[in-house]
Amino acid sequence: MKTFSKYLNYKLKSKLKECSLIYKALRFVRYEIPKFSRSPYIPFSIINVIKTFPLYSPASAGSYGILSKLTIQSINETVPALIKLTSLSHNPHRLRKVEDVFDLSNLEEQIDLLRKCFLKWNCLKGHNQNQVQLYAYIMKNRYSFTSIIEIGLGTNHSDTPSHMPSDNVPGSSQRGFRDFLPNAHVFGCDIDKRILFDDIRLSSFYLDQTEYSTFEALDCKIPREIDLLIDDGLHTPNANILSLFYGLKKIKVGGWVVIEDIGPNSIELWRIIIHLIPAGFKGELLDQGGGAMFAVQRIH
Ligand SMILES: C[S@@+](CC[C@H](N)C(=O)[O-])C[C@H]1O[C@@H](n2cnc3c(N)ncnc32)[C@H](O)[C@@H]1O
Repeated sequence: MKTFSKYLNYKLKSKLKECSLIYKALRFVRYEIPKFSRSPYIPFSIINVIKTFPLYSPASAGSYGILSKLTIQSINETVPALIKLTSLSHNPHRLRKVEDVFDLSNLEEQIDLLRKCFLKWNCLKGHNQNQVQLYAYIMKNRYSFTSIIEIGLGTNHSDTPSHMPSDNVPGSSQRGFRDFLPNAHVFGCDIDKRILFDDIRLSSFYLDQTEYSTFEALDCKIPREIDLLIDDGLHTPNANILSLFYGLKKIKVGGWVVIEDIGPNSIELWRIIIHLIPAGFKGELLDQGGGAMFAVQRIH
């Protein structure tokens, strides 16, 4: 049977080659259009949905038309279905305001000082009240902090995803934190090697958040335990989850992991992740203004 179908295939191809225009047109559709649509200058893609998203494709028989529709439905509806499932065992987690979750009374001066430290270096965090409040709360005992890591230095090279405007100076956030934490060393990490720099109580290293082996390579260059890990890097869920995994193993008791800039479209995913946080840690999904932040503290 297999040999017969191979034979038919061969015969069909030879016939098509005879009408070479049709053959060329078919080859163009099959090989050239997908190549063309992967170009960075074309704002759409032509892809085989089933092969590209195997995790979501149905294990069922059917034509490409039917199966690709089901695959797209599965991509869009798997996370909402998981959230439905988690609501059976826990309360659904809502986005909450920093001031409603943490006690900010007596922190006005601290909040003001931290904002000034960011603004001194033109760091955008200084303009985000939710972020300033959260970090001022986390760092309320700022003299006791000895080491923090922030992923994302803020490259201004537009060939790198998640880059900043061209007039941004990389490292502004790390410098702001360094000034606010008088006894801490600040480690910055970035995929863009061109912007790595060292300064007083500041070091930076290469890291690709999507490759866990680069976290392992980083690990031997920094202290065994840290007070805080901030993920302000690539901002994709898979990159965030690897940073979270590394951070949860790395922070000391009382330490924190913060994932910044969770886009409105990915918030649902974090309503699931919050259920996966191990015992001994406490997570909060916080309003960042237009998106969300995820903050986890190691309790014991
Ligand atoms: C939004 S900027 C960081 C802004 C900076 N934290 C601040 O507050 O000024 C994001 C940074 O993530 C870096 N980045 C992009 N992809 C990355 C990856 N896979 N791993 C690590 N860093 C990445 C970019 O090079 C960029 O410098």
